[in-house]
Amino acid sequence: MAEEKLPEKLVLMASRFRTERQLRRLSRLPSSTTDKVSFGVIGDAEPSRFWIYRKLFNREGVFHDQMHAVQSLPLTFTVQLGDMVGKGNAANYEAFLRGLRRVWSGRPYLTVCGNHDRSRPNGKSHSTFYRGLFGRANYFFEHASVRFVVLDSSAKRLTKAQLRWLKLVLDVPGRKIVFTHMPPVQLSLWGGIGKIHELGGFIGGAKEFAEIVSAAKVSRVYMGHVHAFGVQDHGGVRYVLTGGGGSALFPSGNDDSFHHFLTVEIGPTMIRDRVHTLDGKVVAIPHGLVILPTHPVRA
Ligand SMILES: [Fe+2]
Repeated sequence: MAEEKLPEKLVLMASRFRTERQLRRLSRLPSSTTDKVSFGVIGDAEPSRFWIYRKLFNREGVFHDQMHAVQSLPLTFTVQLGDMVGKGNAANYEAFLRGLRRVWSGRPYLTVCGNHDRSRPNGKSHSTFYRGLFGRANYFFEHASVRFVVLDSSAKRLTKAQLRWLKLVLDVPGRKIVFTHMPPVQLSLWGGIGKIHELGGFIGGAKEFAEIVSAAKVSRVYMGHVHAFGVQDHGGVRYVLTGGGGSALFPSGNDDSFHHFLTVEIGPTMIRDRVHTLDGKVVAIPHGLVILPTHPVRA
C-alpha cells in the first residue's frame, strides 16, 4: 500500500503550533529571565483505535475541555505528552488540530511525540507526519533558569544517538525537567517486564536513560502513555505519570485512572506539582508522596 502523503493544507493548519514558533513566543515572555515559572502538563488525548473501546470507555471532548481549562490558567506554557491522535494519519491530525484551535488561548503550547502519533501505534512505524507538522521530536529550551528537555520515546526505545544527546543537553547546572511519552520499563508497574507488559514502557535504552537522568539530578520526568496518574521516585529522580489527558479510561478497578492535568510551579528553592481533576478539584502532590497504580491501564 502506498504511503499517505502529508497534505499541504494540514501543514498550513499546524503552522502556528510548530515547536520552533512556540519556542520563539516563549522566549519573548518576560518570565524567561526571571527565576520562577509555572506550566501545565496534559497527557494522552487519543480516543482509542478500537471502536468497542471508544464506544464503551471514551468520553468525547474531555481532552479539549481540559485543554480549555489549562489554557485559562495563568501559566507560561503547556506541554502535551503525546498520543494526541489514535493513529498518525492526515484525517486524525486534522480533527485534532481543529479542536485545538478552538480552545487554544495563544499561550505557548508544546508537543511530545507519542507512539499513536506515528504511522502505526504499535508496529514498525515512522514519525514523518508528526515531524512534518510540528518539527523536531527531540528538543530542549531554557526558561526561567530551568532547562526543559523533550525526548522522543515514541518508537518504544531510545537510540544510542538520543542517549548521547540527552547526556549532553542535561550537562548544565541548575534545574532540569524531562518530558517523554513512555515510562522506562524499570518503573515496574508502569513499565512492566518482558513481552506481556512491554506496551507499558520502553525497554531499549531504558536503563541508560534512568542512569543519565539520575546522574544529571533531573528534578522531574513527566510521562504519559499509561492512562493513569502516579508518582515514583527512582534513582533520586521523581517520575510523574500523567496520562489522563482525555483518552479512554479502561476499567482497572483503581482510583488512579482518572482524567486530569498537572500544573507545575518552579521557584529558586521549590517545585510544586498540582493535580487538576475533571470536576475542578486541585490537589497538591506532597513532596514525600509516592503513588503506585496497582493495575495501570495501558495504551
Ligand atoms: Fe502511548
